[in-house]
Amino acid sequence: MLERLLYRSRASHDFGSLHLFKLLTEARLRNEKLLVTGHLLYFDGCFTQCIEGPSESIDLLWRVLSTDPRHHDIELLARHEISVRRFAQWSMAFSTYSSLYVHGMEGFFPVDDDGQSPLVRICLAD
Ligand SMILES: Cc1cc2nc3c(=O)[nH]c(=O)nc-3n(C[C@H](O)[C@H](O)[C@H](O)COP(=O)(O)O)c2cc1C
Repeated sequence: MLERLLYRSRASHDFGSLHLFKLLTEARLRNEKLLVTGHLLYFDGCFTQCIEGPSESIDLLWRVLSTDPRHHDIELLARHEISVRRFAQWSMAFSTYSSLYVHGMEGFFPVDDDGQSPLVRICLAD
């Protein structure tokens, strides 16, 4: 069964571009193995992440995410079965401030002043 999970959390510290790049690079490698796709937003000290993939992968990832000290106040917003992925082409697309762009980073989407990007809108759509 395929599932999508959406949560919001508060970053434990201010993330700079290199920290984010490292986090994303590791996440993408692991997600490829887990057949997980999705989108991560970092804006105003908070993460909002959508992960989609096989239930076993979502279970596993949710367990490690829940204990990752890099964020806290983790709030599950939604989890349900899906038939179609929203981010099929991204092992983890990423939206944040354009100032945090690292040259060559793929799947990067700059946010506007309200923390919106085309992918954020897809992520948060009902
Ligand atoms: C905001 C945030 C998003 C993350 N997203 C992912 C992700 O999509 N995939 C992933 O494998 N790890 C992600 N991680 C890292 C995991 O929490 C964990 O550190 C990593 O999977 C290594 O787990 P391990 O120590 O059990 O090997 C994320 C961490 C944070 C703080």
